[in-house]
Amino acid sequence: MPKVREFNPHGTIDLSGKVVLITGGSAGIGKVNVRQFAELGAKVYVVARNKEKTQAVVDEVRFKTGNKNVFFVYGELDKLESVKAAGKAFLEKENRLHILVCNAGTGSRTKVWTSDGFEVLFGQNYLAHVMLLRILLDCLKETANSLNNVQGCVRIVNVSSRASDFPGAPSKIDFDYLVKKGDSDSRQLPDDRKTIVIPDYSVSKLCQVLQTIKLSEVLKGTGISAYSLHPGMVQTGGYDKIYSQGGIKALIYRALQFQMINEEDGSLTTLYCAVSNEAANDSGLFYENCAAAVNNNKAVKDRAQIEKLWTKSFEWTESFI
Ligand SMILES: NC(=O)c1ccc[n+]([C@@H]2O[C@H](COP(=O)([O-])OP(=O)(O)OC[C@H]3O[C@@H](n4cnc5c(N)ncnc54)[C@H](OP(=O)(O)O)[C@@H]3O)[C@@H](O)[C@H]2O)c1
Repeated sequence: MPKVREFNPHGTIDLSGKVVLITGGSAGIGKVNVRQFAELGAKVYVVARNKEKTQAVVDEVRFKTGNKNVFFVYGELDKLESVKAAGKAFLEKENRLHILVCNAGTGSRTKVWTSDGFEVLFGQNYLAHVMLLRILLDCLKETANSLNNVQGCVRIVNVSSRASDFPGAPSKIDFDYLVKKGDSDSRQLPDDRKTIVIPDYSVSKLCQVLQTIKLSEVLKGTGISAYSLHPGMVQTGGYDKIYSQGGIKALIYRALQFQMINEEDGSLTTLYCAVSNEAANDSGLFYENCAAAVNNNKAVKDRAQIEKLWTKSFEWTESFI
């Protein structure tokens, strides 16, 4: 089992009066984070697509922590309109947001495109969170303003992955591949991109890393810090679909199980980036095991591509704003 660096904010960090919004809090790592934020006293909004499943999480967290300020917000990352509606529903209730955790994500897919015509992993894991951020950005800025723009008083945490930079991860984003070219585009994903995680999952996770770098630049002086991170290889339900597919891929992941950490440990780097005093000033960095880490994808130094991703992300979400 890999060694996990301990991070325990209980007793030192108090999130009373703070508001957190997290995507994908219905399961896995995100579900643990919902409980942790509630334990620290925050008001927590959980954006998720399955009301029944998420309400059960909300009820359990309220019961276990005694914190009644935990709420479900409907949001389906497959549809940018739904993401927008989730952001707006939040803004109808709150005018402050201190911590935004973009956690929801998946490495498996059953279809080629999102409802809006984006490659489905890119669309759900990355672009949906761009949309959410665009809806919430003014609120984040106003929150930071109300706290005198002290660096790290407001945080954006992007739960990425080492899939962004491990061997085989692309360093060039094929922007054309990511978008369906109108109704007449009946492209299917090439066979080698249908089932295996790489390269499309890697690209979606790399985009989060590159966006974080750019965010740290455009948000300089606002007090908002942005982070991307790898939570570790965490034994969550996210791997169930891979196991159920069988074959060599399932075997490889089964063999890797002894290298995996549990969900409690897998939640710690997100928590560290979201609340630790140590990370407050270090906007734009990549984290692993509760510490800043190097992301080895050479794309992190490719200024032209970072700018292009930023511009394209705005272009692709613009008509939904
Ligand atoms: N586990 C790992 O080893 C690992 C490693 C590196 C990075 N990560 C990243 O960590 C994050 C959390 O992963 P996990 O392992 O905790 O996964 P998980 O157990 O499968 O949970 C994923 C969460 O994302 C939500 N989600 C997925 N697709 C969605 C959609 N279209 N709309 C709304 N919600 C959606 C799921 O909702 P439902 O409950 O409705 O399905 C669930 O709440 C992901 O971004 C993943 O890429 C995980």
